[in-house]
Amino acid sequence: MPQTWMITGANRGIGLAITTELLRRGDHVIAAARDPEANTLTELAAAHPGQLTPLSLNVTSDASVSAAKEALAGRAIDVLLNNAGVYGPRDRQSGLDVDFDAWREVFEVNVYAPLRVAQAFLPNVEAGKGRKIATITSRMGSIGGNPGNALIYRSSKAAVNMAMVVFGNAVRTQNVAVLLFHPGWVQTDMGGGGADITPAESAGGLIRTIDVSGMAETNSFRDWQGLSIVW
Ligand SMILES: NC(=O)c1ccc[n+]([C@@H]2O[C@H](COP(=O)([O-])OP(=O)(O)OC[C@H]3O[C@@H](n4cnc5c(N)ncnc54)[C@H](OP(=O)(O)O)[C@@H]3O)[C@@H](O)[C@H]2O)c1
Repeated sequence: MPQTWMITGANRGIGLAITTELLRRGDHVIAAARDPEANTLTELAAAHPGQLTPLSLNVTSDASVSAAKEALAGRAIDVLLNNAGVYGPRDRQSGLDVDFDAWREVFEVNVYAPLRVAQAFLPNVEAGKGRKIATITSRMGSIGGNPGNALIYRSSKAAVNMAMVVFGNAVRTQNVAVLLFHPGWVQTDMGGGGADITPAESAGGLIRTIDVSGMAETNSFRDWQGLSIVW
């Protein structure tokens, strides 16, 4: 039975790889992006007629999320995937020197937006059979992992982990599983060409892991292969 996934940041990187793999196996994807008419998504939609719904969504904008929510009213979503994210500046992320304006901007995308999106589309997830809300966070948000640099990015991922656990506890009685994933170190614009794995490898592992996850895994923090990560 084909599922319906909604993915933020579906136009490139890990989000695009997940979208591509889901379409290949016959699922339906609501591909949310700031520019959903970009070439890659348009080509994918043409190659998989009826399977891809492009959705205009800037995750940091209340107005944009409201408009997208209205556009999807009554539509069931099996898996909602918060994937959109930013790293922030490559410098001024140390304990001794931090760019506060950049820090606020990164929190808008990496922390507030996943919760805003999860709350907005919760009724759609409750109308679906899958009942899963997954967020791509990062191993770099692990406090127990003894972090050393990238203060802005790491703190944003630690914060979204906490926000999603609180959210997960709030929706537990509705049987909606809330899942947190490190996607691996992935060859994308963010991860760089020297990263460990390809977007397709990460996407395949994440999809396999999400497929077999449910309420038993709610509020877990795991990697793309399903292995637990210390908080
Ligand atoms: N790559 C890695 O090694 C790695 C490791 C750990 C975690 N992650 C996490 O994995 C996720 C995906 O990363 P990636 O490597 O695929 O990064 P990427 O190639 O840089 O892609 C980032 C995606 O996020 C979207 N995005 C950013 N701000 C947005 C906004 N305000 N509204 C809507 N979309 C927005 C981008 O859209 P535009 O094209 O419009 O900018 C793009 O689609 C992120 O959450 C990242 O933190 C990645």
